[in-house]
Amino acid sequence: MRNINNVGWGLVILVIQVATIGLCSWKIQAESSSSDVMKASNAATLLGGGEINEKLRTFQTAINDADKEKASLADEPNGFQPRIHKAHLWHALEGLDRYPNYFDRWKSRIKSREQSEDHSVSHNKDSDDEEKEIDDLLKLEHVLRDTADAVRRERKRIAQQRTTWMQKIPNFLQEHPQFRKFWDAALYGEDWGKWCNGILHPKVQELFFTTNTTTGAIQLKTCSDATVAQVLSGAVRVEWNVSLLTELLDEECSDVYSIPILSDAFCHELIQLVRSLRLFFAQDTTIEQPRFFSLSQLGITWLDDFLFRVLLYPISIHLFDNIHLDSYHSFVAGYAAQPNCVTPRQFLVPHTDDSEVTLNLCLGEKDFEGGLLEFGPMRGERTKTKLQTDTVQPRIGYGLLHVGRLMHQVTPITSGDRFAYIVWTRSWTDTRAKQCPCCWLNHRKETATCICGPQWN
Ligand SMILES: *[C@@H]1O[C@H](CO)[C@@H](O)[C@H](O)[C@H]1NC(C)=O
Ligand SMILES: *[C@@H]1O[C@H](CO)[C@@H](O)[C@H](O)[C@H]1NC(C)=O
Repeated sequence: MRNINNVGWGLVILVIQVATIGLCSWKIQAESSSSDVMKASNAATLLGGGEINEKLRTFQTAINDADKEKASLADEPNGFQPRIHKAHLWHALEGLDRYPNYFDRWKSRIKSREQSEDHSVSHNKDSDDEEKEIDDLLKLEHVLRDTADAVRRERKRIAQQRTTWMQKIPNFLQEHPQFRKFWDAALYGEDWGKWCNGILHPKVQELFFTTNTTTGAIQLKTCSDATVAQVLSGAVRVEWNVSLLTELLDEECSDVYSIPILSDAFCHELIQLVRSLRLFFAQDTTIEQPRFFSLSQLGITWLDDFLFRVLLYPISIHLFDNIHLDSYHSFVAGYAAQPNCVTPRQFLVPHTDDSEVTLNLCLGEKDFEGGLLEFGPMRGERTKTKLQTDTVQPRIGYGLLHVGRLMHQVTPITSGDRFAYIVWTRSWTDTRAKQCPCCWLNHRKETATCICGPQWN
């Protein structure tokens, strides 16, 4: 384990900057750090790039029926295959953006073709090129319509699913009243003292909180006047100075940082909750089982808000080139030597996340063996050789923080169970607004001119 103190970041510079802007701000401080402050190695190139959710794949020939159908629909001699090549879809969509009246160019031709089909007039006056353009456009229209339909169906399905799950929560709480407090915003919502006594790791308490000498209340060291609700809603933005983060974080391997977050006792409570929820939902065969449990989607949002507002957002600004994260999504993943409905996985293949920065927080349980995290190269930079890895042993209550495009996998659990609380974060206004998705998908080098047009150069 490397302490970040020893990595040689420009600590002094950041300390001066933090002192000049103040510790707590009400709006985004884009200038709050510069390129030479404390951060991950090559921080500027860590975010974005490469294919999203890339996996190391074995190229098996067996594909499922849906893929077969897609492939046959897309099996076109001219090579325009937006159904299976997203880059083709992007190119077509870029056309919509760049040329006024993009569709109008084909309107008259489509009309004449439709007429000619209606009246069984021969096609010999149309050139092959025009035929091809019409076909491409029709194919694009179909793809867009199918995609939009699929998105609508999926959104509806998810909304229905969430409503169904939420409707079951009162029944769950009747059977398990001991978990009522998780849904009780007032319990955790108003007093940092309750967080310190019941939830947080002692090191976080020591570094982030202080007791007000006048009132005796526990308050955040920064933003001490803000209420818990203001901090969790993002109305008051938390900033941490670099000396404090240096004490908090360790670099486990290149660009992977560990942070103590939750107390052992609270990790245990969370696991009890997740187990009970899983078993409760599994009894009901009429509802769709959640693939992963997202506590936020079941109405428990305060934990995600805390992780994002107090840890992920302010830490990522320091570590990852001043990035401003703006969205987050969490879920609990369960692993076991003998997978079952509560812990459905034994391991996880190498993959990257569709996130800018990922938090992988180990909840335990005690005495699990195996289930190590192995980190490989960056997405888009993988070599054809076997994945080179650094191995990290998850520790209960500790989170691992890394960019989503770092290849990683989970080795098989050999005994016990392991639960991980995962938070994916994104930056739509920053990283994703600046990078051309077409180039990500094509693995283009940074030096090459972007094929999608000069606006991306
Ligand atoms: C202690 O709390 C009072 C009342 O909220 C506040 O006015 C004061 O600034 C706090 N003291 C410190 C040192 O934060
Ligand atoms: C950083 O924060 C800690 C804890 O609030 C404080 O003790 C320290 O003086 C701060 N350092 C600077 C340079 O602001």
